[in-house]
Amino acid sequence: MKAAIVVIAASLASGGLSAAAPDAAAIVREGNDKGAPPCIACHGAHGEGQVAGGFPRLAGLDAAYMERQMDDFASGSRDNAVMKPIASALSKEERRALARHYSGLAPPAASEPAASDELDPQGESIALRGRWEGQVPACVACHGPSGVGVGSHFPPLAAQPAGYIAAQLHAWKDGQRRNDPMGMMQHVASELDEAEIQAVAGWFAAQPAMIEEGGP
Ligand code: HEC
Ligand code: HEC
Repeated sequence: MKAAIVVIAASLASGGLSAAAPDAAAIVREGNDKGAPPCIACHGAHGEGQVAGGFPRLAGLDAAYMERQMDDFASGSRDNAVMKPIASALSKEERRALARHYSGLAPPAASEPAASDELDPQGESIALRGRWEGQVPACVACHGPSGVGVGSHFPPLAAQPAGYIAAQLHAWKDGQRRNDPMGMMQHVASELDEAEIQAVAGWFAAQPAMIEEGGP
């Protein structure tokens, strides 16, 4: 009897707690009771992403940026068949807690060494200098040195899977992603041809997520 009361009291206490502040670490591992699957299934055990699936890393991304992306998946201004139902199954508080959780995790070193493929030199050129013709600005002008990201508006490109970076550029080209402030990325993406998209995605994927102290 006494033991039963203790168990009930404990479960009430934990239920009360999770209603007040969502347990992000638990949702990451187990999902929630409204149908959101565990995030680790796609975003990796430590938020490092998954190169083969083209699933982005979340570790180390800005919290306000990630929260807004989840809102945009739910509203459809960022149209993605996988993330829409997931974001919709998360409450506003859960999205905020998950964004905070992931922003506090250490990012992976780099997404993928360029494996056997040689990096196409036009990737680095577009990333660092842009292209005069078509007025493509240097990506690093907004995304920070070697694409490490700047504040809550300019997400990192460094150490994101190349497949993910390319998919986003396609999504802007096709109008599936329409959530960028002032259409900045829509312009950039519409100017890039397929070879340039692959080249620039490969270059950023191979950059380290963080600039070393004393480095550039
Ligand atoms: C079934 C696989 C899958 C699961 C499970 C999943 N995601 Fe995603 N997630 C994706 C894909 C695919 C994308 C890229 C969508 C696109 O191309 O726009 C993504 C993108 C995101 C982004 C945007 C990242 C960026 O850089 O803009 C956030 C934030 C995110 N997911 C959060 C979560 C959270 C939190 C969970 C767990 C509640 C979760 N995801 C579970 C597949 C998944
Ligand atoms: C004028 C500023 C600007 C320039 C230049 C720019 N970007 Fe962006 N980029 C943005 C903004 C702002 C976002 C975030 C959009 C949002 O809030 O959803 C973004 C997002 C992205 C994303 C999505 C990242 C993620 O986590 O989902 C990719 C990929 C990207 N940019 C690639 C590029 C590439 C490649 C170049 C160079 C060819 C480039 N960008 C140049 C402003 C810029």
